[in-house]
Parts: sequence; structure tokens; C-alpha cells
Amino acid sequence: MKFSLLLVAAVAEAAMAGPGCDAPKPDKDGRYTISAPGIKAKFIPYGATMTNLFVKDKNGKDVDVVLGYDDVAYYPKDPGHPVYNAIPGRYANRIGNGQYKIDGVTYKTEQNDGSNTLHSGTNNWSFRVFNVTAFSADSITFSILDASNSSQGMLGRVESSVTYSVTDSTWHIKMTAKSLDQKTPLLLTQHTYFNLDAYRDPSTSQIWDHTLSLPYSKRYLEGDQGALPTGKILTAAPRSINDFASAADLAVGHARNQTGFQGNCGADGACEGYNGYFLIDDAPRDAAVVTLSSAFSGVKAELRTDQPGVVLYTCNWMDGSAVLKGSQGIKGVNEKVGKSSCIAIEAQEYPDGINHPEWNRVDKQIYGPGQAYKWESSWKFGLV
Ligand SMILES: *[C@@H]1O[C@H](CO)[C@@H](O)[C@H](O)[C@H]1NC(C)=O
Ligand SMILES: *[C@@H]1O[C@H](CO)[C@@H](O)[C@H](O)[C@H]1NC(C)=O
Ligand SMILES: *[C@@H]1O[C@H](CO)[C@@H](O)[C@H](O)[C@H]1NC(C)=O
Ligand SMILES: *[C@@H]1O[C@H](CO)[C@@H](O)[C@H](O)[C@H]1NC(C)=O
Repeated sequence: MKFSLLLVAAVAEAAMAGPGCDAPKPDKDGRYTISAPGIKAKFIPYGATMTNLFVKDKNGKDVDVVLGYDDVAYYPKDPGHPVYNAIPGRYANRIGNGQYKIDGVTYKTEQNDGSNTLHSGTNNWSFRVFNVTAFSADSITFSILDASNSSQGMLGRVESSVTYSVTDSTWHIKMTAKSLDQKTPLLLTQHTYFNLDAYRDPSTSQIWDHTLSLPYSKRYLEGDQGALPTGKILTAAPRSINDFASAADLAVGHARNQTGFQGNCGADGACEGYNGYFLIDDAPRDAAVVTLSSAFSGVKAELRTDQPGVVLYTCNWMDGSAVLKGSQGIKGVNEKVGKSSCIAIEAQEYPDGINHPEWNRVDKQIYGPGQAYKWESSWKFGLV
């Protein structure tokens, strides 16, 4: 009896996210912590952002493997706004030439990334304060009601929620969304940035020595100079720049010295490394589709997802102005987020699929009333 009363109180409090009695609360700086054996994660409502992810390194010590800031108030101020471990939406990544069509009607979106739209443009979800609609010791749910046209050209209201939870050394992410009024593009992701060494490897702060394996991703989308897919689907030859499928032990920087690595992510040669989409083909159910690991910390991270591919971005545009968290770096030696020092791995639908009917993804990216959008992934941590 007493138990169920407490439970009701906890649920009521979590739903209101207001002051209460015994229910878990955020820290004084507004961070919500969830934990399970081998894993502890912290979140803030701004962008439904993960700020810290502690897992165990090869010495059994906690290592914070995602990027972020110690100062929670800095997230909305950061001029670089790298979307650190946040939920961009309602349509993540790029929309070519700031437009798309539904049922023959053209909708114009904000051109905030050259001539393209990035992360839906102004009022994108990674800039919003989500509501906390449930919170317990090992799980938190954030929700958003996105008004019609709050991002220009994204019409109709959308209701969405993301639930983060942890079990033994595993981070689970589940998102749902529905369009309440009319058909609209929906494409969500968790924009997670990793450095599995927490910038504590004294020999390098770059990401190139991490190992990356995408065993089901021989194919990738060709990108143009603005990192927008051209429409072409290419197949990577073994050991070529975009190959992470032919062997399990390829370094992120395995092709670093090959011609074309500089410029592989466009910007007329100014973007080195990766900022593109890798298709996941014929992966068995529950197979690890991405494995990222580092010999220095000994941490291995495995992605499982219901999504058909991942965006990989190797942080070319990090210019060394952002400071690292206290849980990362080496004091006096390495305190900033430098160029090519991290990797974002974003499970998602094909970017700009709404403008590429030839890929047959349009019906997976446009949702009307009565159609449920679902997205589910997990990151399982272990040792190499
Ligand atoms: C996202 O929205 C914010 C707030 O409206 C805006 O300042 C920012 O430029 C937008 N981001 C992008 C990538 O357009
Ligand atoms: C949070 O909930 C309040 C009250 O229901 C609502 O007015 C507000 O729009 C919600 N915020 C978001 C980001 O959806
Ligand atoms: C959507 O908002 C833009 C301004 O951001 C405005 O120009 C346009 O008329 C609006 N469209 C609709 C259908 O309300
Ligand atoms: C690429 O060149 C750099 C600098 O010469 C060298 O340190 C590195 O080991 C080379 N990497 C590969 C993968 O060949």
C-alpha cells in the first residue's frame, strides 16, 4: 500500500518536474543523473542533451567518453553550438537547397548552411528546453511539443519524446514522435560525440588512433562540397578512405595519408576526414553495426540500432576554442577541443532522403496523423 502511494507521488512529481519529497531530483546545476552497474549518465533538458557518460576503462576507473561542458549555462551561449549529444529535429542533418515537396506542394525551409538547411534551421530542437516527463534512478524521458512552422517550412504540430535509460554498461535511447495535424518530414537522431580516451592520451588528442568497424557498411552516400548527398550511392574498396567494413581493426585515421582524405568531407579540400552517411546493409537483428574502441583507455563501444545507417563526423570544424570538461583532458597540456579530436556517430535515416525518391526512403521520412515515428538504439560499453 505504502509502496504504491509513494510510486504515485513519484510519478506525479516527475510528470511536473517540480519540487517534491523523495523522488529523484536534478543536481543543483540542473543535471539529471541516471546509473546502473558500470555506467553513469547525466542529462539536461536543453536539447535533451547528455552532458556526461562515465563508463569503466581498462583499469576499472571511470572515464567520461562524450563531449560537453562543465558549465550548464554555456550550452545555449556557445557560438559554435556543435549539438553535443543533443536531439536535433524535427528533421536532422541537411535538406538540399532549403526545400522539399509533399503531395506536389513545395515547402521552403531556412537556408542556414550555405544554400542548404541544417538541423531544420531556426528553432531546431537542439536549441529548445525539453520537458522532463519521467525520471527515475536509471531512466529519464524528455518531451517536446513542436508548434507548426516554428522552424520555417515545417508545418503541423509534432509531439515527440526521448527516453534515455541505462542497464549494465549499456545506454539505451528510444524516441517516438507523431505529427498531429498534417504530413511533415521527421528524421531524428542522437548526435553523440565521442572521445573514448577523454582526451587523456598524452601522445595524441586526435581521434585517428581510435579503431572503427562498420561491418555492414560497404556502401556510403557520396557528398558534395557542402556535405550534402549528391544522390549517388558508392561502394568503398577495401582500405580506401571510406572503408570501415573490410576489417575489424581499421583505425579512424587509417587513410589519413591517402590522397583525398584532406577534402573527403568537402569544403573544397578544407574538411579532412569524415562528415558523411554510411548505409547499414543486411545487418542481422541485434548485431553491433558500429564498434568504436581505443587501446589507450581500453574502452569499446558497440552500437545497435533500428536505423538504416549512420552519419560519421570527425570534428574537422572544432577549432580549439571550446574548453574540455574537468573530467577530460590533461591539465596544462590538453584542455581544449581541437580539430579532428572527436567523432560524432549519429544513427539515422538517409540524410535529405525527402529529396531523393530514388532511394525509396520518402515514406520512412514523411509522417502524417496516425503514423508513429519510432527510433531505437543502444551503446554497449566493454573493454577491447
Ligand atoms: C537553431 O535555432 C537557434 C535558435 O533559434 C538559432 O540561433 C540557430 O542558428 C539554429 N541552428 C541552426 C543550425 O540553424
Ligand atoms: C512543456 O510543457 C508545457 C506545459 O504543458 C508546454 O506549454 C511547453 O510548450 C512544453 N515545452 C516543450 C518544449 O514542449
Ligand atoms: C512560416 O514562417 C515564416 C517565417 O519564419 C513565414 O514567412 C511563413 O509565412 C510561415 N508560413 C506559414 C504557412 O505560416
Ligand atoms: C600518416 O602520416 C603521419 C605523419 O607523417 C604518420 O605519423 C602516421 O603514422 C601516418 N598514418 C598512417 C595511417 O599511415
